[in-house]
Amino acid sequence: MEMKNGNFYIGGIAVSELAAKYGTPTYVYDEQKIRANYRKVSETFRKYYPNFEMFYAVKSCNNPAIVNILRQEGAGADCASVNEILLAKSVGLEGEKVMFSGNFLSDDDIKQGLESGVIFNLDDVSLLPRLLKFGKPELLSFRVNPGYGKSNVGEYVTNAGPNAKFGIHPDKVIDAYRMAKEAGIKRFGAHMMTGSCITDAEYFPFVTGLLMDIIGKVSKELDINFEFVDLGGGLGIPYKPGEPALDLEKAAQLTAEMFKKKSEEYGMKPPQLKLEPARYFVGNAGWVIGTVHAIKESYRKIAGTDIGMNILVRPAFYGSYHHIYVDGKEDHARKPLGMSGQLCENTDFWVKDRELPEDLSEGDIVICENAGAYGFGMSYQYNGRLRPAEVLVNNGEAFLIRDREEFEDMIRHTHVPERLLS
Ligand code: LLP
Repeated sequence: MEMKNGNFYIGGIAVSELAAKYGTPTYVYDEQKIRANYRKVSETFRKYYPNFEMFYAVKSCNNPAIVNILRQEGAGADCASVNEILLAKSVGLEGEKVMFSGNFLSDDDIKQGLESGVIFNLDDVSLLPRLLKFGKPELLSFRVNPGYGKSNVGEYVTNAGPNAKFGIHPDKVIDAYRMAKEAGIKRFGAHMMTGSCITDAEYFPFVTGLLMDIIGKVSKELDINFEFVDLGGGLGIPYKPGEPALDLEKAAQLTAEMFKKKSEEYGMKPPQLKLEPARYFVGNAGWVIGTVHAIKESYRKIAGTDIGMNILVRPAFYGSYHHIYVDGKEDHARKPLGMSGQLCENTDFWVKDRELPEDLSEGDIVICENAGAYGFGMSYQYNGRLRPAEVLVNNGEAFLIRDREEFEDMIRHTHVPERLLS
């Protein structure tokens, strides 16, 4: 996003024009920024470890247009459910370009996951006999909880360590692979996803070392060749202005060094290195644009906008910070103000005492940044406030990639018994 003469432009289009054409609230994504983010990670890691592949975690922003951009760049898809696998397939990703890392899967999930022919990544040993009931995958991976995780978002998205629900305890990992080998499975991978949004470069080699120590022993003891090791997502982005960014070069270099060192130490044939980033690709390439509908002066001065926690839940859910710009008023005098959405919940009052233009007024367009990851995908219909539109911009052209929901979408799939209609 750039500012010219006080007005904001996303992908070369004025935000005021996008708001007028598509209405608000609307998610806007910049295609070139997504491509540049992907290429940056790909080129940096490949430089230090050429046998490298990435899977985009579809859950972060599941619009098929976005998944297609990443597919064109070379990414596979990391899927959390059968429906995400179907989404990946609908854009032409299948087989070993799709990783299924579901959690607490039902028998139906297992059956359909297996039939879909994608890479199965099991979150627990107990799933293996259930999986084998339905068939034997050619290639199997287990998600390991290496005992440590962290996240800039806090405990909420720390996905490994003793308090996390994910992955297999280090002591049980060997049993999992032994059972799989005894069942006749021939090809293996290993996986972890220890936390999301980490900007500390040294964290990545550290957790890589933990995982490699666990699976290196498995490889030796069971004589298993790991074709790949998937280190999950987690590459973080700064949310607050001035917050330090992840040193990607350092993260890639140190992770590759650790990976090579541990592969050698355990006599492993160097496995392919996989990553599953999402936030790093789409987080800073998406914005929500909204309108100020009212300014209220009560105990506090609050600007009421159409960007509530139904549209962007991260602040209410995790206490996350999202920076807000006001189109045409960035250089105006500032004052601590509040900003809220339109829901009947006080957690929707998600900006408190933020320095905002003091002449903020009805009709102003506000832009909430770093909303591309876990934004639209976590939106919902509470209070009859329906899900917003999504627009993709590319070098000065805008394209509507998801319609704004309408009343019919709110009652679709509901059924009223005849007896209640009299
Ligand atoms: N792989 C797996 C198995 C995952 O569960 C996730 C995200 C990723 C990859 C991508 O992680 P990333 O590169 O984005 O860190 N809703 C939270 C984030 C939850 C992360 C869930 N898993 C948020 O808004 O901060």
